[in-house]
Amino acid sequence: MDGFIAGPNAEPGNPLGDGGDRIHEWIFDVEAWRERQSMKGGRGGNPDDGVVRELFSRAGAYVMGRRMFAEGELGWADPPPFRAPVFVLTHTPREPWVRQGGTTFTFVTDGPEAALARAREAAGDKDVQISGGADTVRQYLNAGLVDELRVHLAPVLLGAGTRLFDGVSPELTFEREGVIDSPAVTHLTYRVLRTRRVAE
Ligand SMILES: NC(=O)c1ccc[n+]([C@@H]2O[C@H](COP(=O)([O-])OP(=O)(O)OC[C@H]3O[C@@H](n4cnc5c(N)ncnc54)[C@H](OP(=O)(O)O)[C@@H]3O)[C@@H](O)[C@H]2O)c1
Repeated sequence: MDGFIAGPNAEPGNPLGDGGDRIHEWIFDVEAWRERQSMKGGRGGNPDDGVVRELFSRAGAYVMGRRMFAEGELGWADPPPFRAPVFVLTHTPREPWVRQGGTTFTFVTDGPEAALARAREAAGDKDVQISGGADTVRQYLNAGLVDELRVHLAPVLLGAGTRLFDGVSPELTFEREGVIDSPAVTHLTYRVLRTRRVAE
């Protein structure tokens, strides 16, 4: 609730930082999430399950920052949950990392617009999901390249760590498009109205 998407000291081996896994507690027993982790069971047919299922099914490709990737690289199973091409923003070239189930991590060193162009091509008719982290989301928002923003508001305070909206231009305006609620989390959907390029 205080805007942090990760706690302090986030790094590979301490994903989401100190206390940060509390943000995601709502998702761990969601059936659609467990399916993507190749795990059986979980709660299905409820609002949280519907949201997770929708987001995965709409995404034809993903873009993420290298720091998010580096945390997931150690923890994601094979097959990873994406089942689609993932483009990782970085300044350090690396060969593509092919995993099972349709997920290949491709490392893009020529910037966010190039990564998005490659993801768009890979996604076909589906969406490109900008998965995070904050540095990456900030750049795409400020460049006017985001149509829809999804926030999953968990009733948790972290107090320190990585904030989602640090450095995001206050010039951007949003329209609330929908709210899906459950006891564990509130799913907010905003349309981004200002899509012209704004100052970094
Ligand atoms: N709560 C959630 O649902 C959620 C979701 C996603 C992520 N997260 C958390 O967010 C944290 C990571 O976020 P973050 O803001 O620190 O980092 P990030 O956006 O994941 O990654 C930043 C990195 O991406 C690369 N990058 C960014 N812009 C670039 C550009 N213009 N050109 C080339 N490379 C570029 C750089 O990699 P190089 O250093 O390799 O050059 C940079 O260090 C993690 O702790 C993760 O767990 C939380």
